[in-house]
Amino acid sequence: METRGKALVTGASSGIGRETALKLAKEGFQVIAAARRKERLEELAKQNPNILPRSVDLSDSKALDEFSKELSDLSEPVSVLINNAGFSLRGVLEDVSVSAVKSLFEVNLFAPIKIIQACLPGMRRLRKGTIVNLSSIVGKFPFPTSGPYSATKHAVEAISDALRMEVRPFGIRVITIRPGVIGTEFNETANRLTGDLLSRTDPDYKPVYQAYGVGMGKLFANVSIPGPELIADLIVEAVLSESTKAVYAKGPFVKELLEERFRLDDEGFYELMMEKTGLKGLVVK
Ligand SMILES: NC(=O)c1ccc[n+]([C@@H]2O[C@H](COP(=O)([O-])OP(=O)(O)OC[C@H]3O[C@@H](n4cnc5c(N)ncnc54)[C@H](OP(=O)(O)O)[C@@H]3O)[C@@H](O)[C@H]2O)c1
Repeated sequence: METRGKALVTGASSGIGRETALKLAKEGFQVIAAARRKERLEELAKQNPNILPRSVDLSDSKALDEFSKELSDLSEPVSVLINNAGFSLRGVLEDVSVSAVKSLFEVNLFAPIKIIQACLPGMRRLRKGTIVNLSSIVGKFPFPTSGPYSATKHAVEAISDALRMEVRPFGIRVITIRPGVIGTEFNETANRLTGDLLSRTDPDYKPVYQAYGVGMGKLFANVSIPGPELIADLIVEAVLSESTKAVYAKGPFVKELLEERFRLDDEGFYELMMEKTGLKGLVVK
C-alpha cells in the first residue's frame, strides 16, 4: 500500500508519543514506534498495521548505535522524525548525583542528536523532512528542584534553533514543541526515579522542599491537566501544515509562566517565580 512516508516516534509506549504514533499512522504514515517496553509497542501495532514496533533503550549506547545504523540503512528513509522520548528527575541540585544528571542528558539530549544524525542523510537525499523535538515550557525557564531536567530541555531548544537554520536549505523543517503540564506517566516515573527526597536531604533543605510543595499546591489548584492528545494533535498539525512555525507551545502555564518569561526581564521573572513557587521571603535560620 502507498503510504505518506516513513515516520519515527521515540517514546511511543506511553503518553504524548503513543498518541502521536497512532495519529500519524491514521494519517497514512508508516510509523516506527520506539521505546523500551516491547509489549506496549506490540499492543500499539495491533491497533494499526502502519505501526512498526521497535524496542530500544536509548540510554544504552550500543543499542542506540545499532538502532541508528538500522535507520541509516533504511531503503525508504525516515521523512518525519519525532524526538519525544524523555524523562525527569527531581531534587535541589545538592540532592542530585552527577551520574543521574548524565542519565537525563543521555536520553533527553544525546539520543535525539544521534537519531537526528542517523536520519539527516536520508532527508537530505529526499530534499525534504520534518524533525520535531519535544522541549517543554521549562525549555525556557526552570522550576526549583528540576534544574537538570530543565537544562536538558534548554539544550534541546539550542540544538533545534541551530539545526533549523542549518538544514532549511535542504527543505528540512525543525519544529520545537513546548508542552505545559500534561497528564501522562511522566510525573509518576519522575517520582519513582527520584525516591523519597525528604528522607535523604540535609535538614537545611526541608523547609525549602516544604515551602515549594505548598507553593506548587497553590499554583496547581484549579488547574485542569489535559491529556496527551492535546500535544499529539499539535504535533500532527505541525507535521501536516504547509506553513509550519518554528515553535509551538500549548497547555497549562504557557500563558502564566512561559509568556511572562518572554515579557519580563531576568530580575522581574526571578521575582515572579519566587512568588509562584512559594519561596519568596523564606529564610532558613
Ligand atoms: N507530561 C508533561 O507534563 C510534559 C511536559 C513538557 C514536556 N514533556 C516531554 O514530552 C515528552 C513525552 O513525555 P510524556 O509526558 O508522554 O511522558 P511518558 O508518558 O512518561 O512517556 C515517556 C516515553 O519515553 C520513553 N522512554 C523513556 N526513557 C527511555 C529510554 N531510555 N529508551 C527509550 N525510550 C524511553 C518511555 O518508554 P519506555 O519506558 O517504554 O522506554 C515512554 O514511551 C518527553 O520528552 C517529556 O520531557 C512532557
